[in-house]
Amino acid sequence: MDEANRMKRLPRYLFSIIDDLKKEARDRGVDIIDLGMGNPDQPTPGHIVDELCERARDPENHGYSRSIDSVECSLREAIAKWYGAKFGVHLDPDSEVLPLIGSKEGIAHISLAFLNSDDIALVPNPAYPVHFNGVLIAGGILHNLPINEENHFLPDLDSIPLDILERAKMMFLSYPNNPTTAVATKGFFNKAVSFAKKHRIMLIHDLAYSDIVFDGYEAPSILQIDGSREIAVEFHTLSKSYNMAGWRIGFAVGNAGILKSLAKTKGYIDFGLFKPIQYAAIRALTGPQGCVRKQVETYKKRRDFMVDALANIGWNVPMPRATFYLWARIPDKYSALTSMEFVSLLIREVGVVLAPGTGFGEYGEGFVRFALVEGEDRLAEAVERIKTILEMEV
Ligand SMILES: Cc1ncc(COP(=O)(O)O)c(C=O)c1O
Repeated sequence: MDEANRMKRLPRYLFSIIDDLKKEARDRGVDIIDLGMGNPDQPTPGHIVDELCERARDPENHGYSRSIDSVECSLREAIAKWYGAKFGVHLDPDSEVLPLIGSKEGIAHISLAFLNSDDIALVPNPAYPVHFNGVLIAGGILHNLPINEENHFLPDLDSIPLDILERAKMMFLSYPNNPTTAVATKGFFNKAVSFAKKHRIMLIHDLAYSDIVFDGYEAPSILQIDGSREIAVEFHTLSKSYNMAGWRIGFAVGNAGILKSLAKTKGYIDFGLFKPIQYAAIRALTGPQGCVRKQVETYKKRRDFMVDALANIGWNVPMPRATFYLWARIPDKYSALTSMEFVSLLIREVGVVLAPGTGFGEYGEGFVRFALVEGEDRLAEAVERIKTILEMEV
């Protein structure tokens, strides 16, 4: 059967290539240290799991979920309350909050909801892949905004040609940023909001790492910017803050009209979230937040350890202020290799898995991403193994 042309436009999914390489190494008996995928390694906090278990035993919660159900209304209220407390932004739970089956789902569907075949989406590159893949699946036109060390991994809005802007319908942003770990100031968001309003472009901000911040840094919400609600929506996830990656729960907030169209699109495709997961999410957002602080402390220790340990073997990597990633330039000795070749070498020779920069778009070339989703012992072991590669005769 011949796949649809829009599927042929997609690059091969990064993690399926890595999975093949991992399997090959594992079959040879290699012990794999997997720092490739941003998949949190710690368990979901006990009180959230307990809530799920209890609610799952109630047959009332086994049917399809509808947006008018009391649990979904309560979830929207819990999200609005969490948002108000965290960012000081008031949201109307009924029209400005939309629960999602993970934020990736919502991000993919927003392109489907809004892009016609001649509409352009402006997407920073490198980016979390669904930002651009969603556009390609929807059949829209992708316009890359290169982000790099020179522009502090922030898109240069003034350099976008006018003819592109005339056809641009949406722009994606995501800070703290995956994969580059860059953060953005409110000043940048101010500029982005004015720019989007001037050119009548919808702004989509992915704030997946709002809680994974260090050293006193606080990640702003784009909805803190005056007037942003006229053109912006923001995506959040419980996957990272509460270690609920496999549960599939996130949400979008912001412009009511945009969310209505997204909800309409989803209404033709899904039936919402399993009700016990919604109850568990309410518990996560309204319950004790010490688990989030503990998790951030764990990532901070890993970050400090890893940046230091890599520097000790001659690989200098910037200290991120947010996310649980390191974005590292490929060491000089291997700079002739592509990021995929370098990652393949590490998997093949020493069983350490990193994500190649090009998995996040062509402008990620020259970099690899470490996800700090293993304990310090394993991170130390990974550094020891990488050291042997850096010392190898080439
Ligand atoms: C920037 C960013 N957005 C969204 C997601 C997906 O989150 P979810 O699990 O809610 O789909 C991720 C996951 O790694 C991410 O890094």
